[in-house]
Amino acid sequence: MSKILDGKLVSKSLKDKVAQEVAALSEDGITVGLAVILVGDDPASQIYVNNKKNACDAVGIKSFEYRLDANTTQDELISLIKTLNSDKDVNGILCQLPLPNHIDEQAVIAAISPQKDVDAFHISNVGRIMLGNFEFLPCTPAGIIHILDFYGIDIEGKNCVVIGRSNIVGKPMAMLLLHRNGTVTICHSKTKCLSEITRNADILVSAVGKAGFLTADMVKKGAVVIDVGMNRYNGKLCGDVCFEEISKIAGYITPVPGGVGPMTIAVLMNNTLTAAKIQNGR
Ligand code: GUN
Repeated sequence: MSKILDGKLVSKSLKDKVAQEVAALSEDGITVGLAVILVGDDPASQIYVNNKKNACDAVGIKSFEYRLDANTTQDELISLIKTLNSDKDVNGILCQLPLPNHIDEQAVIAAISPQKDVDAFHISNVGRIMLGNFEFLPCTPAGIIHILDFYGIDIEGKNCVVIGRSNIVGKPMAMLLLHRNGTVTICHSKTKCLSEITRNADILVSAVGKAGFLTADMVKKGAVVIDVGMNRYNGKLCGDVCFEEISKIAGYITPVPGGVGPMTIAVLMNNTLTAAKIQNGR
């Protein structure tokens, strides 16, 4: 049986560290603030935004919530972001994706000050990640690296396979594994002979978004399996990975829920703290 990689446990240790540092800053009169913008009423996004607010409350970060109507125009949204860019109480700005179709996501991300871009989605932060010279790392990939580090799983020289090439997870995940000297392959919907590639993975990250996508025949015995999926199946939250069968052969596996999800939020808290420290010359 695999060892379970407990994202709740790892996220607690990171959030505890953030809470201690936020409290120390507060003794010096420095507050830490995160603005979270949600446009529209997508139910999943509402849950994510609520979770982010609760995490802020738990670590002592002040949260500023903006829940905007689905008909909000791109100009209105960008105008709000510009106001937040110059608000000293706001150290980090997060605009929950996806945005409604009439809004150009890249234009919105570009409007966020790179110093407050705690998602690390801004083109200049993406470029800095590519070069390995960054202040913020994207929350989900960085959360996965934290889990691997916490459990002492070495990346150097390992065959790392990432399934999915999104800007939020797949591409930056591949880059962070590369920075740690992994030998990285990115697979996607056009990849041929996928299972031949995945069966060669020592570390296998699935960021596909389809319940039951990763089956036992795609996994090497003893592999580290990281499930980034957040899917609903018969109303139940589940990942991409067929957990029952794969947990019998993998060496390590993240559950859903309780794996990668809590780490994403813990890294967001850490990035907001980092932003506040830099903005206050710490
Ligand atoms: N939508 C899904 N994941 C994320 C994330 O990490 N940040 C933002 N802003 N939106 C998301």
